[in-house]
Amino acid sequence: MKIPEVRKNINGMSGYVPGEQPKGLSRIIKLNTNENPYPPSPEAKKALENFDWQRLNRYPDPVGQALREEIAAYHGVSPDMIICANGSDDILTIVSRCFIDPDHALACPDPTYSLYVSLASLQDAPCIRIPLLDGFELPDDFEEQAKGASIIMLARPNAPTGNLYPMERMERLCENFDGAVFIDEAYADFSENNCAEFVKKYPNVIISRTFSKSRSLAGLRFGYAIAQPELIAQLMKAKDSYNISMLTQAVALAVFRDHDYLAKTVQAVKDSREALAKGLQEAGFKTVPSETNFVFAMPPDGDGERFFRFLRTKNIIVRYFPGAVTGKYVRITVGLPEEMDALFDAVKEYLA
Ligand SMILES: Cc1ncc(COP(=O)(O)O)c(C=O)c1O
Repeated sequence: MKIPEVRKNINGMSGYVPGEQPKGLSRIIKLNTNENPYPPSPEAKKALENFDWQRLNRYPDPVGQALREEIAAYHGVSPDMIICANGSDDILTIVSRCFIDPDHALACPDPTYSLYVSLASLQDAPCIRIPLLDGFELPDDFEEQAKGASIIMLARPNAPTGNLYPMERMERLCENFDGAVFIDEAYADFSENNCAEFVKKYPNVIISRTFSKSRSLAGLRFGYAIAQPELIAQLMKAKDSYNISMLTQAVALAVFRDHDYLAKTVQAVKDSREALAKGLQEAGFKTVPSETNFVFAMPPDGDGERFFRFLRTKNIIVRYFPGAVTGKYVRITVGLPEEMDALFDAVKEYLA
């Protein structure tokens, strides 16, 4: 018997490649997947200690109602405007199941979070990739170029570039586009503004958030989306029945309530981000203004790959994205102050 054939589009695609998670972390400075360098709120520890392990024989609440209510109150919307998921990647999968197929295209900027393109391949859907302008801004005719697509997926702030498209531009896009607009706000807590309020005005908008970045819970897997109730009801049909474990629900709820810890750690990351960008600029790097927990930086020789490889020899891992434009840069996640010191020692050596 031979291995059965999978669908043609699956066979033909290479599959999304997540950032490397190296073993032996103690020797390595890991600045490649935009995790938070700080631990999660101590409320996570309490929630784990208080968790009754014997309850694990039962299925979890399929929709995470307690979380929906808490998150809804935070955003000033009703709980039926929230869907919870196993990280925001799960939200993206749910949304792509609902909107894209061979006759319904996805449109997204280029460069952006590369999972969007992989999701289109999984759905065997066409993907319209719209190049960003210099400075990684949206072109004026973005909606025009996206015409015919069922959904636009974009990240704001964008990844891997870190910049924030202007609010008025986003508003215009949501008004003009005749389809769904998915705004991936994975990094919104680090940015000066966000589009969460759009869901109250625009029935075509879906906003997603994650606990993986600002809330230091990448390992737990929790994310959510906000949209109008009719749209959330549709998305609910496309999720796995129990997509958030009981443990995840308990920890995510406890951490979400700790607003002070969020504010404190976000500020620390933002301060380090500014110091990182400034230090790199002083060393002759070109940096993209960042509203995230990472900096997209071009070394003075314009050779992202060479710099990436050099850093590896120093046990520092950043992210390199091959490509005519992205290949000139590396993406550096904000780390602990001592990790940033080690990075700057390596930068000095590279330039010497
Ligand atoms: C733009 C963007 N969206 C979503 C994600 C995935 O987040 P999560 O851990 O919630 O699946 C990432 C992760 O790096 C990201 O950069």
